[in-house]
Amino acid sequence: MCGIFGCILKNGNAAPVIHSSLKRLEYRGYDSVGIATISDGKIFLKKDQGKIDEVHKCINLDDLPGNIGIGHTRWATHGAPLHVNSHPHSDCTGTITVVHNGIIENFGDLKLELQNLGHAFVSKTDTEVIPHLIEEIMKNKLGSSFADAVQEAIKRLEGSFALAAISSYEPDKIVCARNESPLVLGVSDNGVFCASDIPAFLPLTNKVVMINNGELIILTVEGYQIKKIQDNSLVERVPETIEWTAEMAVKQGYPHFMIKEIHEQPEVLRNTLRLQDRYLDLLSTFLDRATEIFLVACGTSYHACLAASYMFSKLSFLPTYPVYASEFIEQYGKSVNIDSTILAVSQSGETADTIAAVTCAQQRAATILSLTNVIGSTLTRVSRVYVGTQAGPEIGVAATKTFTSQLSVLVQLALRLAKKRGKVSQDEIDVLEVQLDKLPDIVDVIVKTQEDKVKQIAHKYANSKVFFFLGRGISTATAFEGRLKLMEIAYVPSIAFPAGESKHGPISLIENGLPVVFVCQKDETHKTVIGNIMEMKARGAKILAIIEEGDNEIKALADDYIEVPKGVPSVLSPIPFAVPLQLLAYYMALEHDCDPDMPRNLAKSVTVK
Ligand code: F6R
Repeated sequence: MCGIFGCILKNGNAAPVIHSSLKRLEYRGYDSVGIATISDGKIFLKKDQGKIDEVHKCINLDDLPGNIGIGHTRWATHGAPLHVNSHPHSDCTGTITVVHNGIIENFGDLKLELQNLGHAFVSKTDTEVIPHLIEEIMKNKLGSSFADAVQEAIKRLEGSFALAAISSYEPDKIVCARNESPLVLGVSDNGVFCASDIPAFLPLTNKVVMINNGELIILTVEGYQIKKIQDNSLVERVPETIEWTAEMAVKQGYPHFMIKEIHEQPEVLRNTLRLQDRYLDLLSTFLDRATEIFLVACGTSYHACLAASYMFSKLSFLPTYPVYASEFIEQYGKSVNIDSTILAVSQSGETADTIAAVTCAQQRAATILSLTNVIGSTLTRVSRVYVGTQAGPEIGVAATKTFTSQLSVLVQLALRLAKKRGKVSQDEIDVLEVQLDKLPDIVDVIVKTQEDKVKQIAHKYANSKVFFFLGRGISTATAFEGRLKLMEIAYVPSIAFPAGESKHGPISLIENGLPVVFVCQKDETHKTVIGNIMEMKARGAKILAIIEEGDNEIKALADDYIEVPKGVPSVLSPIPFAVPLQLLAYYMALEHDCDPDMPRNLAKSVTVK
């Protein structure tokens, strides 16, 4: 995710202001920190890996001179959390320096092109192409202004970015720009600010200018000028006054991190869908060669693995074994061997049970692959190959955006394997890829159109003592995840089973009025699910169905339903279908006066076995 900040002050040094503002952005990432300022026409830069306080203790971030500067707090995506990969990144001459949040999809091609032109790169980041590209443009178009060169450079970038750049050639300005990653301006009597988010400058000003995609801004001590990147036209936009408290601002106006993170899912999914092909290729090559594959994880990450086992099987015709990490050693510790491959999935990359399972497998010479949200975590260090979920820090204890981002990487992996193994027709793959690209918008629609309805449903069922969650096929995993969410944050005892399995025991619990949540994606299981709904209804259960829009058959049977836009293929369905269940858990927690961000007895990262 990363946080960027820039400021030009009329009075005072910029560095301490940047430092304290970055602290308020640390919730966006804390792998490294860096600040660059300009004074007397020269750039001064300090940066290092580590949290802001740790780095500041070692190198004093406050003593950089000058009234103008930019800063960055990083959540590693491309390149490990090391000094060299910390922002700001500079060109060959050290006269241009840039901070960036987002993902430059075509950085590989641009880097090669620039290296062929003689540019020397020091980091593994995607960001470093930006200062070199600006340098190259300024070299070729002598006389072009810094802002024009930034604008030209941006036109060549594919992907998402919010960036801020400074140059000692024009030491009086910051040029910043936005495409998809957030960027806002702040305006005060003592200067101007640009930042990833309002809390960064909230103690300094509450006068805010929102920046839209495709806009470039030139900040000077006099103020700001906004232009459209494509046609250079000027945009008039006056500051708005916002009345947020500092606490509200960190949550961007949401009452809890959990609901903020649920709402962030469209953006996170867009980023996750931008994963570099080479990571997916590498992982899929290992998986393709494997003799046996274990998908190892805990909690919500385990549910992602469970869904993934259906994806790998249906798309890539590849059998995999999802295993609870805490059971792995007992179940497979003796049989795992050099021919085994472990794909470990963990948001934190630090979960003790997952690390123990992986360590055991590693000692027996198995290949360790991983998917995690925290690059640089223990899991990445013990993995042969790892890939990041690009979800940014998740602060709410309940995993939400990291679940859907894990699923989105896992399904991309299954599709990659399907191509490699030639088991599914290209036409089918094309259709799935088109649908996959639509998922961020679909999740956006769900959050925008169904949230109020879910809230009412939560109110209606607030006094229910027990919930059932049922699904068939891949929706079994979604049902399990819905149950976990409701149990952990609203403390409602809940039961989840594959719908077919419910007849083999759990159905004896059903009595009049007991709510049964059915996850009903429209696929070959649909008819049988209707049969299961009838069985539950016959015993007095209240049916709460998550359905595809326009599924009239189930609408007619359900007491309440929540709709997901039409046409999501079954293998992708856990991503959108999980969202109403996250919302249900959240609003049930509120009905029960529970704090959804800090459920009792739980921790975000479980580092004990
Ligand atoms: C549930 C939840 C936990 C985690 C589990 C694994 O909302 O957050 O069940 O999923 O503790 O954590 P990671 O993914 O960090 O290994």
